[in-house]
Amino acid sequence: DAEKSHYISKIKQLLKQQDAVLVAHYYTDEVIQALAEETGGCVADSLEMARFGNQHSASTLVVAGVRFMGETAKILTPEKRVIMPTLEATCSLDIGCPIDAFSAFCDQYPDRKVVVYANTSAAVKARADWVVTSSIALEIVEHLIDEDEKLIWAPDKHLGGYIQKQTGADMLMWDSACIVHEEFKAKGIVDLKQLYPDAAVLVHPESPASVVEMADVVGSTSQLIKASQSLSNPVFIVATDRGIFYKMRQLTPHKEFIEAPTAGSGATCRSCAHCPWMAMNQLENLATALEQGTNTIEVDSALAEKAMIPLRRMLDFAA
Ligand code: 13P
Ligand code: SF4
Repeated sequence: DAEKSHYISKIKQLLKQQDAVLVAHYYTDEVIQALAEETGGCVADSLEMARFGNQHSASTLVVAGVRFMGETAKILTPEKRVIMPTLEATCSLDIGCPIDAFSAFCDQYPDRKVVVYANTSAAVKARADWVVTSSIALEIVEHLIDEDEKLIWAPDKHLGGYIQKQTGADMLMWDSACIVHEEFKAKGIVDLKQLYPDAAVLVHPESPASVVEMADVVGSTSQLIKASQSLSNPVFIVATDRGIFYKMRQLTPHKEFIEAPTAGSGATCRSCAHCPWMAMNQLENLATALEQGTNTIEVDSALAEKAMIPLRRMLDFAA
């Protein structure tokens, strides 16, 4: 409609004027992902977002996602201006891992390497030896096992449990979860599989173990998208945020993508297959942030210097 096109052309103009590039996560709304693609930015998983921001020449990065993604961009490229459509978009994993409690926990086990998921605050990253995202977590943990390391893992217990099962790593686990993925139910997938016997099940490893067990492919958002292209199944049951369907349908429009069932509906379901924080990224607040120069991400420089070490370690490992 007219309002939407008004915002889109305004954002395009502002991006150009300000030497800015838009980096969006696969869970943001379609209109944001499409705009990132159209304007030479990128739509990506959290590792690729970090890499893109790190390598792109633009002096301003506009990060459409959740707070930790903006902070990661700022930590990796402190010389750039990093803005977000909203500074309120947090993540239940970040909330579930407050620095004081986490640091005290780590202090009890000085002989263990501290591995944290990217979905954490800058302070938690600064306390870590390694930062990982879901697309690189298995490889990094395998590498640490080769080095005979024992680990502390935080904050996602489901992703941690999956990695532990796959690798046999000695991991002490923090107890936190993603409110979106935690809602997926194995029983619902069993029922759907009966209706769609040809369907492949794609699962993000932030889902509970019983759901991961049902999967044909377990992986990060970009790995699930690749699987939706490479597997020949005509139908996919997908246990992750429904924002991912935009890219899956764009790449293989002749296939059918079905949302994996969640715990319930209405009042019992807090966040049915769509992250409430990702959903806060809208055209209006994106335009306002660019126009008014608000919502700039700042990270305390001492903290950023420390957090940069495990973040760079991850990027170097992934390179
Ligand atoms: P990935 O994009 O790295 O798979 O992460 C998923 C996620 O939860 C981001 O919020
Ligand atoms: Fe955090 Fe889950 Fe939202 Fe990702 S989907 S940002 S892990 S709450």
